[in-house]
Amino acid sequence: MAGMVSKSVLDDIRFRCDIVDVIDAYITLPRKGTVIKALCPFHKEKSPSFTINRQRQIFHCFGCGVGGDVFKFVMLYEHADFPTAIKILAEKAGIPLEYEKGSEPSSDKQLLLTIHEEVAELYHKELLNSPEALVAREYLKKRQLTREIAEDFMIGYAPDRWDFILQWAQKKNYPVAKLDLAGLVVKRAEEGGPHPYYDRFRGRVMFPIRNEQGRIVGFSGRTLQQDPKAAKYVNSPETPLFRKSHILYALDRARREIVETREAIICEGQIDVIRCHQAGFKTAVAAQGTAFTEDHARMIRRYADGVVLVFDSDNAGRNAALKASVLFMQSGLAVRVASLPQGEDPDSLILKQGAPAFAEALAKAVPAIDFQLNLLLGQENIRTEMGMMKVSREILTTISQSPNAVQRDVLIQTAARRLGVAAAALQAELRPMLKNSIQREASAPPPALTIHPPLEMMLAEHLGACPELIALVELYLPLTLITDPLCLRFIEVVRDSIREGVELMHLLGERDDENRTLAGFAAQVLSAPSKTGLDGSHREVVESLILKFWRTELQRRRTLLEQDSESATDEQSRDDKMALASQLTTDLKRLQRWDTGESVLLHYQGE
Ligand code: CTP
Ligand code: MN
Repeated sequence: MAGMVSKSVLDDIRFRCDIVDVIDAYITLPRKGTVIKALCPFHKEKSPSFTINRQRQIFHCFGCGVGGDVFKFVMLYEHADFPTAIKILAEKAGIPLEYEKGSEPSSDKQLLLTIHEEVAELYHKELLNSPEALVAREYLKKRQLTREIAEDFMIGYAPDRWDFILQWAQKKNYPVAKLDLAGLVVKRAEEGGPHPYYDRFRGRVMFPIRNEQGRIVGFSGRTLQQDPKAAKYVNSPETPLFRKSHILYALDRARREIVETREAIICEGQIDVIRCHQAGFKTAVAAQGTAFTEDHARMIRRYADGVVLVFDSDNAGRNAALKASVLFMQSGLAVRVASLPQGEDPDSLILKQGAPAFAEALAKAVPAIDFQLNLLLGQENIRTEMGMMKVSREILTTISQSPNAVQRDVLIQTAARRLGVAAAALQAELRPMLKNSIQREASAPPPALTIHPPLEMMLAEHLGACPELIALVELYLPLTLITDPLCLRFIEVVRDSIREGVELMHLLGERDDENRTLAGFAAQVLSAPSKTGLDGSHREVVESLILKFWRTELQRRRTLLEQDSESATDEQSRDDKMALASQLTTDLKRLQRWDTGESVLLHYQGE
């Protein structure tokens, strides 16, 4: 709950997270300025209608109507609720959040992050300078992982000792329990000995693993030995910081590029990823091994519309690709699979044949459906009835996993063409399979534009542009005449911000709810194109609006009076009502213009 996060923390976040920088980290923005225009990340469009106002710290899309403050953007983009958005932004800003009751105290997480940064630095310095690390330097040289790459990816070396980290931590006064929590040390099986812990990573090349925000949260250590019995990689265990299903190697540096190309390259290993980035394929990421999860797919979905899988070209790699494609497809991603020459992985291919060869493999990547068809057609003979049924069933099982009707249709067309059967037949077989699987939509449709009463909206817009005019409203317009709850809340905040001398956006942020409804509304109001240039004309508009609200109100009253007088049985009261109604008619006339209307307003306002 947001209530647990103190106001001052929210202020800190608002202060440190400039909306332009935050959005820029998700979608690369064209240029900087006070008002920035970009293609909207929330709906498809060809010309930019998504605007960000740096001064006001709001965004608004004129195309689909979304808008709000920095919290709202993160909520929409990350499909997160308010508390999660707070968490994400706090982490970006490096602001610790205090929770009442949580899984683990945030101070622990802060400490673990610090320890990871320092240990990565330590291993890195070891690699570069220590005589002990000569073997590692030679190993990296052999693998053509240059010093520049080592620096870029902060590759390090864990000396072949049982207590390297333990010793270091003792000097730094870090409790061994925290090292344990960080997964950097391992508890010995036997109890009561003089050395209850030992270093997890020994004699290994160390790859720090960063989270989406670029903070180091874990390590993967590669052995230097040829011995097939030694574990090739030792990774950090699951820790409060490191959750394998939430981490994609190099996503922190790849995500900007992915957003631009809308397609991520998915590799199997971190060395593959490093090689890709070095060779200019900057959208490459990897999970730890081939264990892809729904969470991974969801993470990628935020940045990409599709993925291209480049797994090892062996049987294990092909099966992994098949499994991963279904998983990615379930998240509504378009999936392609690249084939590498037998026995190669991205790293070895780029080293042996260069970047162009890899680019070609990527260009030749086929849709996952074709990849699976190729495999199936290699195994079964579709000229037999049995073979055809088997292949079609398998392929339909895959297709049924797609949550998107359009994607399913595209896949059906492809399969029908390749198998030489009618699409309608496949379609008919698919239908009952869909009933069994949960049907989800690939991406939520953009939120519907809410219509607010146009005059109230206009009033809000002009007050937003020229908040000082709230004085006029306070003098002449009771807020009870404002019917739209959001318009009313907005106008109240404008009023209070002037009264209390607090910045408008700040107060809006404070008064908002968990859905950031007010921020969204304010963004719409404040982003409205200026209908007048001068403050003087804002004043005229507000005056005429006030008159208009009152005319509507008096007309309403007059109608009521007329109805009442018609049904009145008592002559006297009927005459009274008629007299009042005709007074209203006179006042209505005077309310046509400000100079004649003002005194009428003062009369009614004071009633
Ligand atoms: N992996 C792992 N544990 C292992 C083996 C592999 O976690 N015992 C993970 C690592 O993240 C590794 C990935 O699986 O990067 C792919 O494994 P593999 O293809 O065997 O390694 P490569 O990345 O090709 O590493 P190298 O080139 O050094 O052999
Ligand atoms: Mn390899």
